[in-house]
Amino acid sequence: MQHPAQPTRIETPSLRMPTAKDGPGIWELVRACRPLDENSMYCNLLQCDHFADTCVLAEMSGQIVGWVSAYVMPNEPDTLFVWQVAVSEAARGHGLGGLLLKDILGRKDCRGVTRLQTTITADNDASWSLFRKFSEGQGGGLSYAPYYTEDLHFQETQSTEYMVTIPLAERAALAA
Ligand SMILES: CC(C)(COP(=O)(O)OP(=O)(O)OC[C@H]1O[C@@H](n2cnc3c(N)ncnc32)[C@H](O)[C@@H]1OP(=O)(O)O)[C@@H](O)C(=O)NCCC(=O)NCCS
Repeated sequence: MQHPAQPTRIETPSLRMPTAKDGPGIWELVRACRPLDENSMYCNLLQCDHFADTCVLAEMSGQIVGWVSAYVMPNEPDTLFVWQVAVSEAARGHGLGGLLLKDILGRKDCRGVTRLQTTITADNDASWSLFRKFSEGQGGGLSYAPYYTEDLHFQETQSTEYMVTIPLAERAALAA
């Protein structure tokens, strides 16, 4: 994926929680954001409906230009797992990805969250850059290890996904 080297100015996007009606628009954005896995529209509807409190979308002139799906891990209430981050090409390179992550962490459903996790394939430079940058603003800790592997979990059809863990230093200190 090309690095957004010299982004042009854009209007400030507005951020909000999704509703079920946003499912199709999000499905289209994710489809346009290679190399993200395209989920079914039904999956995006469920994210918007059941996980709205930990998902966020960004709009510019009524168009969806950014999306993060995430949830607090069912058995680990201190962990926000980020499923997908998608920013439309026109809105890239302005820090929107990081802003979306921070918006979710500011919600009341994330009160007990002290670390963020996500999975990334080795070749997704944009995603590594986004999460490294985000971790710098959170105290700088980032660790990773192979998690869903090509041979064991994907029947050799997809690259290994590395589990990335980012401690949220300030929040952990407050919770201690
Ligand atoms: C990854 C993605 C969400 C980043 O969104 P964004 O709003 O442009 O990200 P930001 O502007 O917050 O950039 C964060 C950092 O990543 C860097 N970056 C962004 N795209 C990059 C790329 N293609 N290659 C290398 N670095 C990149 C930025 O330069 C920035 O670092 P800097 O401030 O030190 O320069 C967006 O490129 C995208 O939707 N990509 C396609 C889908 C995808 O791969 N999603 C991530 C997996 S869940």
